Amino acid sequence: MKIVTIAGARPQFIKAAAISRAIRKHFSGRIEEIIVHSGQHYDDNMSRVFFEELEIPHPSHNLEVGSGAHGHQTGEIMKRTEQVLLTEKPDAVIVYGDTNTTLAGAVAAAKLLIPVVHIEAGLRSFNKSMPEEINRILCDHVSTLLFSPTRTGFQNLVREGFDPAAKPPYTSDNPGIYHCGDVMYDNALYYAEKAGRSSKILSNLSLENKKFILCTIHRDSNTDRTDRLNAIFNTLDEIARQHSIDVIIPLHPRTQKMLPADLNQDLLNRIHSNPFLRLTEPVSYFDMLVLESRCTMIITDSGGVQKESYFFKKPCLVLRSESEWKELTELGTTRIVDADKSLIINTYKEFIKNPPADFPPIFGDGHASEFIVGEIYHQDLWK
Ligand code: UD1
Ligand code: UDP
Repeated sequence: MKIVTIAGARPQFIKAAAISRAIRKHFSGRIEEIIVHSGQHYDDNMSRVFFEELEIPHPSHNLEVGSGAHGHQTGEIMKRTEQVLLTEKPDAVIVYGDTNTTLAGAVAAAKLLIPVVHIEAGLRSFNKSMPEEINRILCDHVSTLLFSPTRTGFQNLVREGFDPAAKPPYTSDNPGIYHCGDVMYDNALYYAEKAGRSSKILSNLSLENKKFILCTIHRDSNTDRTDRLNAIFNTLDEIARQHSIDVIIPLHPRTQKMLPADLNQDLLNRIHSNPFLRLTEPVSYFDMLVLESRCTMIITDSGGVQKESYFFKKPCLVLRSESEWKELTELGTTRIVDADKSLIINTYKEFIKNPPADFPPIFGDGHASEFIVGEIYHQDLWK
């Protein structure tokens, strides 16, 4: 069987690592995997580092689309993917998550009648002002096999008309849906120890014996809204100073570019003079795992980092107005705080006083990737 994996953004390289590992370990000689890098993320610390650290096979094709407006970027990926698929003639295409690369890859493949496998299907924020919500809905509806990491995701698919009792042979008109656990959880379990041994991030940042908060910000709803970006950094500055606690912020390039233009000068000066507020370049996945496992709390607008907070049993404040990871908000281990200063500060204090203790296993058994690859192979999509 020949599979083309299409990935282009940081979290997709990480998810693809789990599936690639399962293919090499259990289906070597039976599945040939061709990796296509869309080029959506291209800085070394947003791309190359993950291929090296997670030993992902070198992409056979790099579409080098780079950055751009949604229509332009999605269109270019779709055009260039179509050419690759016409040459490679795979039996199935795998796409991950909800980026422009996901949507473009799925549409290009589906229109060539190549079965699309969507990993991380069914997630919904019910907020279509979020570009990712549009990407995930459209991708799901042209897919043939849909793997949801959560029960809520699976139920969302059923609510949208997917038949949980559908029988093979699966096609895009008779898709198969699964609740199968999370490939990122597989990775967190698989790499945590290795990351602990090889990462130097704690000593590099002099954090060995310190408490600290880990924060990531990259959603366009925060970076492209001056009021929200100012409110968030104003609040982080205040928490760091008032509680004398380090706040480590590996800055996504999008956020890095927006800060000087969007933060008011007084706030910029405060941030740069605040010894507790530590802005860094994006870090590697292993560094991230170590930071997540050792921090006191996570503050983020990232989907993946929300989940990882749960894997490492850390309370998490979500800098958004909603989350597609409903289980986490229902369990109360993550709390929606939007960009609301008093809500962020009050919830931070509550979590410090009463950290959540109960993190039931809701993301599978650490072997979702093997299950997914087995299903792809045994569903005879290529016959
Ligand atoms: C994208 C995804 C988002 C995902 C995130 C993961 C879409 C619509 N968004 O958002 O769902 O959560 O990736 O990180 O697909 N840039 C660089 N270097 C890079 C990559 C980006 O400088 O290697 C800068 C560029 O200025 C670019 C901006 O970041 O315009 C945004 O990049 P883009 O890929 O469009 O969106 P993300 O915010 O990264
Ligand atoms: N991540 C990383 N380095 C960083 C920030 C995040 O390796 O500096 C990892 C993080 O551990 C998670 C993934 O990137 O596995 C999440 O990606 P991101 O937040 O960019 O996107 P999202 O999950 O929101 O789509």
